[in-house]
Amino acid sequence: MPLKLRRLSHALGAEVCEVDVSRPMSETRFGEIYQAFLAHGILLFRNQDITREQHVEFSRRFGELDRHEALPRDRHPKYPEILLVTNEPNPDGTPSDSRYTGRQWHSDMSFTTSPSLGSLLRCFTIPEVGGDTLFASMYLAYETLSDGMKKLIADLHGIHLSGTRKIANATTGIARAEEQRRINPPVAQPVVRVHPETGRKALYVGEKVKRFDGMTEEESRPLIDYLNGHATRPEFVYRHQWRANDILVWDNRCTMHQALGDFDESQRRHMERTTVLGTPSGYVVADA
Ligand code: SIN
Repeated sequence: MPLKLRRLSHALGAEVCEVDVSRPMSETRFGEIYQAFLAHGILLFRNQDITREQHVEFSRRFGELDRHEALPRDRHPKYPEILLVTNEPNPDGTPSDSRYTGRQWHSDMSFTTSPSLGSLLRCFTIPEVGGDTLFASMYLAYETLSDGMKKLIADLHGIHLSGTRKIANATTGIARAEEQRRINPPVAQPVVRVHPETGRKALYVGEKVKRFDGMTEEESRPLIDYLNGHATRPEFVYRHQWRANDILVWDNRCTMHQALGDFDESQRRHMERTTVLGTPSGYVVADA
C-alpha cells in the first residue's frame, strides 16, 4: 500500500496517515517516510501512544541521536537522548528550566558546529487552548528573495548564540542562559545553506543570529530583521495545534520554528524531543 499523506499547509508539512511508529517497519516503508520528510520538511504522526524507548528507537531511523551535551539542564534524567520542553515544575517545586524553550524563531542546534538534521517532538500534555508551534519553510524564504538580495547574502555568515536571551533577561533563567553560553561559544553559520541531501538552498537565519561575521551588530541588525521578517511571512508558515500523542518530525536544515506562549501558563504543556545529529557546518568565533 502506498504511503498515505495529507498536506498540512501550502508552504510545508504533511500528515502521515495510518502509520504506527512503534510497530516493526520495513526499510522500504521507512524509505518512503524519509522521502516524504525531505519533500515536505515536516511530518505529523497522530495518535502515537508510545513509550520513551519507542520514541528513541523510531528517531534512530533518521540517524544518530544527540545526547544533548550542549543542553545538559534540559535532558531527561534517565534518557539522555530525550530533551524536555516542559513547564511542569521540578520535583523540588522550582520552575522548570525548559519552560521557555523554543520561544524564538530558530533551527535546532544552529549554535553548534553540528546543527541538527531533524527533531522529533512528542506531545504529552497540552493546555486547554494554545501552546501551538509555528514552522517556516526556509526554502521558500530563500527562493522568493530578489536576485539582488540573493547576491548580497551569498557569502554572509550569521553568528548564532545559544539560549533564549530575551526571555532569560525577563525571568529567573539567567543562570541557565549563562551556562549555555559557557558550553556553547558563538558559531557562524552560512546564511544560505545548501541542503546536503536535496541540494536546494535555504535561508538559514533566525532570532539566535546576533550579527554577521565581519560586521558590527548595528550594521547587521536591519538586514537580520528583514530576513527574519521575510522568512516568517504567513505564506511560508504552518501553525501546528497540538494534540496529545502527536509526533512531529522536522528537517532543521530547511525549516525553522517557534513555540508560542499563547496559553495560560498555569496549565501544563509537556513535550519531549529527540534530536538527530547533522553534518558539520559553520565555525566557532572567538567573540560574538
Ligand atoms: C523546540 O524548539 O524544540 C520546542 C518547540 C515546542 O515546544 O513547540
